[in-house]
Amino acid sequence: MKYGPLFGICNKHATPETLIDEIKQFEAEGAHGVVIDLDGLQEEYFTGEWIRKILAACCRVESYVCCYRSKNTEHISDEKRAEYLLMAAQEGAGIVDVMGDLFDKVDGELSFNAQAVEKQKLLIKKIQEYGSSVLMSSHVSKPCRMEETMKYFHAHYERGVNISKAVFHCNNEEEFAESRRISERVCNELPIPFVFVCSGEYGKKFQRYETLLNGSLMTFVRCHDKDVQPSVREALDFMRKRTPWASAAGRSQCGEFVNRTAVITGAASGMGLLAAKKFAAQGASVLLVDINKEALDDAVEEIRKNGGKAAGMVADVRSYADAEKAAATALEKFSRIDFLLCFAGGYEPRCCNSNLPFYQQPIEVIDWGLDVNLKGPVYFSRACMPAMVKQKYGVIICLGSVSGVQASPQGPMYGTSKNGLTQFVKCLALAGAPHNVRALCVAPGPVLTRPGMANMPTPLKRAAEVVELVDFIMNMCSERSSFITGSTHFVDGGYLCNFGR
Ligand SMILES: NC(=O)c1ccc[n+]([C@@H]2O[C@H](COP(=O)([O-])OP(=O)(O)OC[C@H]3O[C@@H](n4cnc5c(N)ncnc54)[C@H](O)[C@@H]3O)[C@@H](O)[C@H]2O)c1
Repeated sequence: MKYGPLFGICNKHATPETLIDEIKQFEAEGAHGVVIDLDGLQEEYFTGEWIRKILAACCRVESYVCCYRSKNTEHISDEKRAEYLLMAAQEGAGIVDVMGDLFDKVDGELSFNAQAVEKQKLLIKKIQEYGSSVLMSSHVSKPCRMEETMKYFHAHYERGVNISKAVFHCNNEEEFAESRRISERVCNELPIPFVFVCSGEYGKKFQRYETLLNGSLMTFVRCHDKDVQPSVREALDFMRKRTPWASAAGRSQCGEFVNRTAVITGAASGMGLLAAKKFAAQGASVLLVDINKEALDDAVEEIRKNGGKAAGMVADVRSYADAEKAAATALEKFSRIDFLLCFAGGYEPRCCNSNLPFYQQPIEVIDWGLDVNLKGPVYFSRACMPAMVKQKYGVIICLGSVSGVQASPQGPMYGTSKNGLTQFVKCLALAGAPHNVRALCVAPGPVLTRPGMANMPTPLKRAAEVVELVDFIMNMCSERSSFITGSTHFVDGGYLCNFGR
């Protein structure tokens, strides 16, 4: 049984200020997303600038923008509505709702007028090109039998949308039972996610939890006490009782990274391991990636025991297929990728136990040094970045080293790779900037992930504690660092100040 995320409904707001207040309130209560109905807004606020401000308030919740028809906006043409929806997509809305009868208003909100359908398809494509997902909605608002209902979902799907949503009514027990059978069939038959809302006199009594149970992609939570939907707290309580993972989600509902997902390579030991624990403790869902299965399983188990959301994946960062699999796993399990932290790496003479001069080093050792330290972050960035671009949010952090600027005759592939990451994050930063994706390199001096590091001298006369690096990295992922991208940050206790002496 799947339980979708909770979306607070923000409608009937005449000004962006009160709308933004409500978004923030839903976020504070633990909702995962908000439905922003532009309909209530006074028309002067239908501008790119205002929509951008409203969407900026959704930095920690998913945004779902619609512009339904109501008495308030009767005078607005469907062409104008389409323009507003495109504007929302352009400004980074996560989900944009295209009504099933846009361009041809009909009862039941699903038009088959060929011209209108063509226009819808074009709009859907344009919205998707901006990176938003399109949800097509039909507020049917009457009871329907199985076959008729399925027509709605299939028609939405055939128009090329990403999510199908239909609202039906049921007024008695029999209609309600039929709606349950329908949702089961949609679940098994429809190739895309769906939202199935069963309302009406009888359905309303159950609507509070019905969408939580029927496999719908999302569940709506209320904004006003008089609304039929459950409050965020009621819905979370319900979910907590039903599934262990939801219970974990409920416990970690506070923290800076709630609703964020981190993919962490090299997460079975050292800095990567502590980062996985600390990100999870701050509410993030974490996908731990490493080649060391045993240590990985232990880490995942510990995080889960402490109430965090975590999954493990045995993967070799040298394989692009593994990188793609990791990105797909993170999206499948947690729906987003907000942070990519590339810790997997190592000094090839130590990791391959081969302390020879470069000119005698076996080529396998040289390959290992380059592939793990340089290609690994490149592969994982390539695999994870499309999701970040789509979300219009993401931070990629590569682990460099002081060895990236201070040359030494030993481990030349390590130093060369770490230096390469400095250039790589600059390129990534430029590619990501238009999509609100940042990239940077954190380059430590000696860190106490193993005792030997204590012998590396720094002006502070000690090596760093692991937590000092992880805290720095968490700060870099925070919105407090939203202007930092493309740069390399040395966290080295002053080690490089003596460089060259
Ligand atoms: N510890 C330091 O003093 C120091 C200093 C500068 C830079 N760094 C860099 O910081 C990062 C983390 O360092 P650490 O000391 O915490 O590391 P660590 O050795 O404790 O952990 C590295 C992890 O990466 C995993 N790994 C190795 N090869 C892999 C592969 N091919 N695919 C997937 N996983 C793989 C290992 O199993 C291990 O769990 C590294 O990139 C390192 O180069 C560390």
